[in-house]
Amino acid sequence: DWTPGNVVADQVEAIRAQVGTKRVICGLSGGVDSSVAAALVQKAVGDQLTCVFVDHGLLRADEAEQVERDFVAATGVKLMVVDARQRFLDALAGQTDPETKRKIIGREFIRVFEDAARDVVADAGAHGEEVEFLVQGTLYPDVVESGGGEGAANIKSHHNVGGLPDDLQFSLIEPLRTLFKDEVRAVGLELEVPEEIVWRQPFPGPGLGIRIIGEVTAERLEVLRAADKIAREELTRAGLDRDIWQCPVVLLADVRSVGVQGDGRTYGHPIVLRPVSSEDAMTADWTRLPYDVLSVISTRITNEVSEVNRVVLDVTSKPPGTIEWE
Ligand code: XMP
Repeated sequence: DWTPGNVVADQVEAIRAQVGTKRVICGLSGGVDSSVAAALVQKAVGDQLTCVFVDHGLLRADEAEQVERDFVAATGVKLMVVDARQRFLDALAGQTDPETKRKIIGREFIRVFEDAARDVVADAGAHGEEVEFLVQGTLYPDVVESGGGEGAANIKSHHNVGGLPDDLQFSLIEPLRTLFKDEVRAVGLELEVPEEIVWRQPFPGPGLGIRIIGEVTAERLEVLRAADKIAREELTRAGLDRDIWQCPVVLLADVRSVGVQGDGRTYGHPIVLRPVSSEDAMTADWTRLPYDVLSVISTRITNEVSEVNRVVLDVTSKPPGTIEWE
């Protein structure tokens, strides 16, 4: 019988048999797959697992906290948080080309993770232990569609460990390899992973770095984070989270337009809302959000985020537009 409970029981047994007394590392992204994979391994081998979370500073409001606080509280996992925010900002300074930004973020991510993995290995070595395994949240569709789409290919270049050097060789543990997304969610709920993580919509590895059109700076990240938080709050309040695939919120940082706010003329930036409906992100349609929800989002963003004086709606399907703007 397929039940989440049986999957958990089977995987726990298999992971214990595979790992023995050795130690395991898992990179956490804050997304569903890596979180559920980590929770499963944690249940199987407890303290033998160390999770590494790289905070690249391109996350949305409260995401890092959610991993640090809620995930640890729910699973008891041993977590190493690497604050790499300044490092990513430095690496991205002056960069405006989308592909260049993506490559920089991917490269820095691998380097930071690699350093963290070395630290975990060194620490284990000091206790006479071996670190032999690395957990990957690979799902069944990732296995079959090895090529994948643009997004899938990028997911791989972000999270796979092919880029790790030879002296850091690990065997892989992939406890979700036979599962589809909805099954992963069921397993996550069974493991009491927080619902905010289990039901999270897709979010790209390069994060807000590819939702700021133009150079990524600390100030711009703050503006975008504030606008994004409002959009997400209102979509949740309207009960629309499970109806839409995702809703990127994009800051046109190099565009300004004239507005009037309070008593005076403003010259601020536009925010784009990009709600999409999709089955697999290969194609997508723009979501016909209710006008009253759009209206509340627009009013709140322009009232609460002083740098923004205009909110616009992206009504392009994919193709021709991609879901993300970069
Ligand atoms: P696009 O913009 O290609 O996005 O239509 C398709 C889906 O993939 C997500 N996406 C990414 N996910 N790393 C990821 O993990 C990436 O580099 C990346 N780029 C896009 C995007 O959010 C959408 O769900």
